Amino acid sequence: MKTFYVTTPIYYANSLPHLGHLYTMIVGDTLARSKRQRGIETYFLTGTDEHGINIERAAQKAGRTPQQQADYVVSYFKEMTSAFALDTEHGGYDFFMRTTYPFHYEGVSELWRRIAARKTPRGNDAIYKGHYEGWFCAACAEYKTEDQYQKGDPPTCLIHDTPLDRVSEESYFFRLSDFDEALLDVYTSRPDFIRPESRANEVISFVRGGLQDLSISRLKTSVSWGIPVPGDPAHTMYVWFDALTNYITAIGFGNEERERAAGFEKFWPGVNLVGKDILRFHAVYWPAFLLAAGVEVPRAVVAHGMWVDPNGRKMSKTLRNTIELDVLQKHFAVDAVRYFCLREMVFGQDGRFGYENLIDRTNSDLASGLGNLSSRTLTMIARYCDSRVPSGKIPEEKLLFAKRTGVDTDQTTVAGFIETARDQFLLHFENMAFSRALEVAWSVVARVDKMITDAKPWDLAKDENQKLTLGAVLYRAAESLRWLCVLLFPVMPQASHAMWKQLGLGGAPDRIDPSTLKWGELPEGTRIGDVQPVFPRLDKARLLSEINQPAQGEANQIPSSTSPATDAAEGVKTFIDIDDFAKVDLRVGQVLSAERLPKSDKLLLLKVDLGEAEPRQVLAGIAQYYEPEKLLGRKIVVVANLKPRKLRGYESQGMVVAASYGEEGRPVLATFTEDVPNGARLK
Ligand code: MSP
Repeated sequence: MKTFYVTTPIYYANSLPHLGHLYTMIVGDTLARSKRQRGIETYFLTGTDEHGINIERAAQKAGRTPQQQADYVVSYFKEMTSAFALDTEHGGYDFFMRTTYPFHYEGVSELWRRIAARKTPRGNDAIYKGHYEGWFCAACAEYKTEDQYQKGDPPTCLIHDTPLDRVSEESYFFRLSDFDEALLDVYTSRPDFIRPESRANEVISFVRGGLQDLSISRLKTSVSWGIPVPGDPAHTMYVWFDALTNYITAIGFGNEERERAAGFEKFWPGVNLVGKDILRFHAVYWPAFLLAAGVEVPRAVVAHGMWVDPNGRKMSKTLRNTIELDVLQKHFAVDAVRYFCLREMVFGQDGRFGYENLIDRTNSDLASGLGNLSSRTLTMIARYCDSRVPSGKIPEEKLLFAKRTGVDTDQTTVAGFIETARDQFLLHFENMAFSRALEVAWSVVARVDKMITDAKPWDLAKDENQKLTLGAVLYRAAESLRWLCVLLFPVMPQASHAMWKQLGLGGAPDRIDPSTLKWGELPEGTRIGDVQPVFPRLDKARLLSEINQPAQGEANQIPSSTSPATDAAEGVKTFIDIDDFAKVDLRVGQVLSAERLPKSDKLLLLKVDLGEAEPRQVLAGIAQYYEPEKLLGRKIVVVANLKPRKLRGYESQGMVVAASYGEEGRPVLATFTEDVPNGARLK
């Protein structure tokens, strides 16, 4: 039986995850869903990397123990994986791995012992004790060579810009230098081992440049938060040795109970999905450890690019340009985020992530594109075909009529197009070219959309002789939608299910192998479900201003010295002073008269009593939503000190305050539920 095992890196438990971390999970999840959909038994693993000096320091800073720190980060991870429907409950990962699980200790120790008991390809001990002298970056968890740091006292990490730690102590070493040929053998005999190819070339030239032995332990007195070296508890294992091994311990290497629960024998070797930032660890050290232990190397190491901000800067907490998961989750549909990530980033290259881009793509590709195609097709089936999927065939006797309309009478044309698109889509997907696969899917959306527009169903509906032509057009559109649901399921699981339901179909799109789709299997007569927008349009201006504003209450928690309004470098103006607010003179008013303004369908002319000698004349753009006579006597709120201005020849001496919602900005007048005199000031 064919199986598939895919992993994400395990994320450091020192800080909360952001979009970059979410991205690898989305890619892993998409791959896992597509394999499951194709009937392949699949295991998808993600988790956290919880040991090492970096976690120890983060915990200390937060006043927690390292375990508490890890638990805290893990609980946030679980919350977010659930919110983004990536957890087991939502059909996502099979297991959330933590390197603090006792079975992991057993498995890592077993791997160490196996390596220690064996010889390298050149006949030397694979692990030996020595002395390490050099610089270490806690954030990278990496020993740095001269070309990897900025000289200084102490030197600083080129990636993190933080001071390096001086290490001078006894250490166990892994004899990496004896594995260059064995590694090069793997790379050359298996061209798919490192993907994409450009990354493989980088790794190959690194290995050809010569490998140095790797320090794989620290004295417990320097790093205590980690796994002790078997037989020498005065040493703690190097965190990368510990972390990389999670890919096999999670499925049962070195622990029978886990083996029974998951299945090392069944699933290993797997595909390790990583960011290009940690490719060297995965494509050089990791296979070398496995070769040394006599365990199979991964099936493939696949590296994706990094997300940068819209200005091309790396995302980092220091630059405050990270995309935070709770913001994304609050304002965007999960499937829109998944779609964006997979469509926008050419897999393997870096990609820019900005909220504006995300909103634009959601509106253009999802709301106006796929979502609109789905709702217009289904709405027309409801209207013209009594909510039943019509027949896709045009009978002989009606062919002549159909031909006159310009509608293609041969449905194999569109069927052929979508079959070719399906094959290309699957091929791109197999090659992890998600962006290209989605382009192909959207070429189907465009094609079907055009077919509908060209056929002008609203005209066909008026002609009794064209009823079957109209049916055929709508059938083709609905059948194409069924195919799209199946193809897009791994990328947009929720939306694909929702569209499937609206098509009135039984079963589920995740149970259909896209390669087995056959044109015409959408049953004629199917009663479609309730038609609802799958991807509501986003109000860009409003959303951007909401995203840039901290939530209510959050403002109180930010000390004034760092408040965004005072932080000129941020360029964000979120807060105003009470004095700014006091400049606005808001008054209670009562509507004395209201009438429509001649030649305007938007404006009402109001006379409002603000408790002054004379009533004010105020124009309000609410005529489409409020009947003038219903406003008589109503208490409202008026901006009383707004500079008067003329609209259509009438002076407006103030402005009515109303909430505004929905796409069209529907106004709702502010009012009072208690008695209040005219002219009272709002403060
Ligand atoms: N703990 C190690 C991995 C050990 S795996 C045996 C680690 N953790 S990490 O939390 O720093 O980052 C893990 C991964 O998060 C990166 O490799 C990458 O997959 C992802 N990303 C973090 N920031 C990213 C971006 N800005 N863009 C895309 N992915 C990024 O390294």
